[in-house]
Amino acid sequence: MQKILIDGGRRLSGEVKVSGAKNSALPLLMASILVPGEHVLRNVPDLVDVRTTLKLLGVLGVDSEMKRGRVRLSSQEISCFEAPYDLVRTMRASVLCLGPLVGRYGRARVSLPGGCAIGARPVDQHLKGLERLGAKVTLANGYIEATARRLRGATIVLDIPTVTGTENLMTAAVLARGTTILRNVAREPEVVQLAEVLNSMGARIQGAGTEALEIEGVDDLKPMACRVIPDRIEAGTLMLAAAMTRGDVLVTGVSPQHMSALLGKLKDVGVQVSEQDGGLRVVASDRPRPVDIETHPHPGFPTDMQAQFMALMALAEGTSVISERIFENRFMHVSELKRMGARIKVDGGRAIVRGVRGLSAAPVMATDLRASASLVLAGLVAKGRTEVRRVYHLDRGYERLDKKLRKLGARIRRAKMSPPRTIK
Ligand code: EPU
Repeated sequence: MQKILIDGGRRLSGEVKVSGAKNSALPLLMASILVPGEHVLRNVPDLVDVRTTLKLLGVLGVDSEMKRGRVRLSSQEISCFEAPYDLVRTMRASVLCLGPLVGRYGRARVSLPGGCAIGARPVDQHLKGLERLGAKVTLANGYIEATARRLRGATIVLDIPTVTGTENLMTAAVLARGTTILRNVAREPEVVQLAEVLNSMGARIQGAGTEALEIEGVDDLKPMACRVIPDRIEAGTLMLAAAMTRGDVLVTGVSPQHMSALLGKLKDVGVQVSEQDGGLRVVASDRPRPVDIETHPHPGFPTDMQAQFMALMALAEGTSVISERIFENRFMHVSELKRMGARIKVDGGRAIVRGVRGLSAAPVMATDLRASASLVLAGLVAKGRTEVRRVYHLDRGYERLDKKLRKLGARIRRAKMSPPRTIK
């Protein structure tokens, strides 16, 4: 197992390129189940979650090859319909194979994802939607079992605008007989990209990016060729690294239109952000001003940036309130940030952050993907050497973050964890 060591206090400067979006790549890869043939995806980030998805596709009978961001998938008709527990438990997004399997083959057996570090995260909306489309859904022995002849279009109103739920139902409905209306859907850029790519494969989806989708089912699709959109969360994390170290960094390969909530908050805290050479230049010279944030579905402030923004607010000149409205348990970074000298008090779904002048290094433990990123950010400014343990969380969703930060001047490296000492 590895850890990350950071000697804090270096101002970041230079240029850094953002990778493709994890949360776009995963549903796109799963969409290859919808049609046998040769698919090509470009700008795919090399992440543990992407590798897990390719492994799952391999189990189902889709072969893959990944080289420098280009993934080639080649599939025949699928003959295995099961996403086993051992894969699903390492990555909840495995549930994204459910929609394409039921939509194309009328059969799926997918392990129930269960809870995870950031909350219970049920999939009831995915299942309710599939039932509305005519699938018979049962839960047995920890597995979701869904069968259908051919799905038929229906009107479905989601209780919550769930991201992967919208993606699952969209991929299920594209091959259904008749028209499906999905209401109260997620509007995240990753959902929009999935709709656009499905349309380029021959699907008929209207309304992506609004709160309702109209999907006219088609009889067949053709394989996909697409380029994954930039990762807005990685971009935001790098921008906060620049802001926290009072640096001057050009973040390239970004889509600013996907990041308006974060860009607005950066302006409020006094960080200068300007569009330059097709990227976003971030310059900061003072302590940030405090601002309150509340996470919401897109286009609101993303929950996936909450932990990182809290690291910035830990240094603000005053008190800010951070409210988490999407997941019930996404404050696990708080106790670790406090070990580094942050002054934060959690009160239900709110964290009250009293800014301090500086943080101090400490050994800290990553608990989930975005929490790990917030600890790395804190380590960049903390006095002394911070040791971030359990970095496998980071590798699930950031492509070589340590390398990118090093290129900007950070003193950051990986080391092997030494085995625990036995106490005699
Ligand atoms: N929910 C339900 N029932 C459902 C589905 C969701 O109650 O059937 C609840 C969840 O428990 C949560 C809320 O609805 O409280 C929103 O969850 P959502 O379903 O939108 O989350 P997700 O689809 O499981 C995706 C991203 C997450 C990101 C969230 C919110 C992927 C692969 N994952 O998860 O990304 O935080 O949307 O934007 O797209 C990450 O990248 O670190 C990450 C966790």
